[in-house]
Amino acid sequence: MADNKKISVAVIKRLPRYYRYLGDLLNVGIVRISSKELSEKMNITASQIRQDLNNFGGFGQRGYGYNVEFLYNEIKKILGIGKEYKMIVVGAGNIGQALVNYTDFESNGFKIVGIFDVNPRLIGMTIRGIEVYDADKMEAFIKNNEIDIAILTIPKTQAKATAKKLVECGIKGIWNFSPMDLELPKSIAVENVHLTDGLMTLIYKTNAVLDK
Ligand code: NAI
Repeated sequence: MADNKKISVAVIKRLPRYYRYLGDLLNVGIVRISSKELSEKMNITASQIRQDLNNFGGFGQRGYGYNVEFLYNEIKKILGIGKEYKMIVVGAGNIGQALVNYTDFESNGFKIVGIFDVNPRLIGMTIRGIEVYDADKMEAFIKNNEIDIAILTIPKTQAKATAKKLVECGIKGIWNFSPMDLELPKSIAVENVHLTDGLMTLIYKTNAVLDK
């Protein structure tokens, strides 16, 4: 694998989707697949698939296609899945609680170990067995428990200051649900989730269909 090669963000963003499809194929006992078949399933061109996977040295064999399990495991390694990552949720409101209640993260090694909020009515309650702590305790908790990732589900007005604190405590990545673009050091990975962006894209597509 080309470890040192810089892989574009566009390719990295497609890898989880390959991983998911390959996992589904593995689950139904499919051993190998051609780029053409994979392209039909995933609605990506076969040449795009070959180009993407060539970034990591290919993994395909002419006339055979791809070995599903091998490719699945390679993508897993590339993404860094399979290890345990400790996460905290900051903001135990609607979105924070929904994320804590989603059990599938754990099957990929993403473990939520702490939840933080400022609201006294929420502090002390448990969500799926995990206690909601006072946000004042967050910094010490991160340091003592070597937390990798913070999920930020707090109001926009709080996002910047909280993200700054998280960075100072040594957080490596922030999954940001608050509608605020965070300016953080390059050493901190940030992934913003804006559901409304998806909805607006859907509206555009819906109108485009209606205009036809
Ligand atoms: P919510 O009001 O139900 O929950 C926010 C929680 O954050 C509250 O429990 C509040 O006490 C807590 N909080 C406030 N300041 C805090 C701080 N400094 N430290 C720790 N906790 C703090 O809000 P909801 O519906 O869960 O939304 C959360 C955020 O996500 C909002 O910023 C909202 O605008 C945004 N949002 C994002 C979406 C997306 O697509 N990413 C979709 C919908 C909402």
